[in-house]
Amino acid sequence: MSGTKMKLTSDEMEMLDGKQGATVQKIMETLVRYGEAFDADCFVELDGQSHLVGCYAVPATEPYVRLVEDLVAEGFKTKLPFTSNPLPFDYANVEYTDAERSINDDIHKNQDKLEDMLVKIGLVNKSVFTCTCYLDEVGNVPKRGDNLAWAESSAVSYANSVLGARTNRNSGIIDLFCAIVGKAPRFGLLTDDGRKADWIIEVRTAGLPSPHVLGSAIGQKVVEQVPYIKGLDKFFPAADIAVKDYLKEMGASCASNGAVGLYHVESTTPEAKDFGAGLIRPDAKTYVIDDDELARVAAAFPLMWKSPDAPPDIAFVGCPHYSYDQLCRWTQAMEAELKSQGKQKLAVKTVFAAAVPVIEKFKQSEFYPRFKSYGAGLSHICPLLYTVNPLCAGKNIISNSNKLRTYSLSRYVDDAELLRAIVKGGVL
Ligand code: F3S
Repeated sequence: MSGTKMKLTSDEMEMLDGKQGATVQKIMETLVRYGEAFDADCFVELDGQSHLVGCYAVPATEPYVRLVEDLVAEGFKTKLPFTSNPLPFDYANVEYTDAERSINDDIHKNQDKLEDMLVKIGLVNKSVFTCTCYLDEVGNVPKRGDNLAWAESSAVSYANSVLGARTNRNSGIIDLFCAIVGKAPRFGLLTDDGRKADWIIEVRTAGLPSPHVLGSAIGQKVVEQVPYIKGLDKFFPAADIAVKDYLKEMGASCASNGAVGLYHVESTTPEAKDFGAGLIRPDAKTYVIDDDELARVAAAFPLMWKSPDAPPDIAFVGCPHYSYDQLCRWTQAMEAELKSQGKQKLAVKTVFAAAVPVIEKFKQSEFYPRFKSYGAGLSHICPLLYTVNPLCAGKNIISNSNKLRTYSLSRYVDDAELLRAIVKGGVL
């Protein structure tokens, strides 16, 4: 590659010139081209651990698996140990038919090999396959101002917005290459200017809105730009919620129904607390969200089941993966709903997805025996990757995750409806 507009250090120039080997040269050339495409001025050193999205081997990801194989063969390691997105199946905790297993065996035939190679190249260990790496139990918790190069959209949103770290919404492979060289091109959300708000979102609802529907509305409106959300924080003190969990759900919905990598919530998120309206660009546009607008957005969620009148086959809760607090709250909610419907056990197979360290902590809690007695399941699976298997995808899946609804044939229902449905069973 001849010449670049990016200002490189002598070490970076050596990498680009091939003085540190042909593979490093290719990695650096890829990152320079990527940076130039977004007008990056230079590289920044990564401060925190990486988090990779390339966690599953299917025919479509074969080139990626070969790439990881080549890197492992050459002895490459990431600068710091990394965490990774969750896995596509979990035979210990999710039921599969023989036919479903057989298809999994076929489409995921390189899965074990990929997981082993990820360990060799720097994965912390095999318990950190989760999209909520930033939870304390998992331990990849970026500090405010840390430069990162993550790709998982829900984690990017959380790291930038809730923790005040700095990462662009990269692609898989770019996240791996950045993790290997310990650098990322500086542009977009890694700059002060790129973190300014292009939109003012005025929330004028009667009560705390569903984070999934609110996130969908915001994502569809602002697409990849930065929103500054007003009028939401006033609901937090009275609501019986963990604000960080609420923002986790809202951010995942913004990021999947648009491409939002950063949002600010007035008086709540770290940069909004420090800089307030100073974060808003002078020419920012305004989007008013009231209850009618949210009803319009929710009504447009398509129902794509083959037999819309059939009962649900399975419910997934925890996309993004649930926190410890969410698991405890849902145990109490299931208990109350079972009591009100005069039942002992859930009528619909229900899988709660969470990180292994969160599941281990929950299993030690007073809530777990009750959770288990209701027949609820716990898994580290990615509910979306469960649907890579066409037999699984064709099931009538319900979820309270708008992200899962967006990327699969699942049906979105809000928390209250999901709770009623999994206890009652039958047609919704
Ligand atoms: Fe996480 Fe998989 Fe949902 S990565 S956000 S559980 S699609």
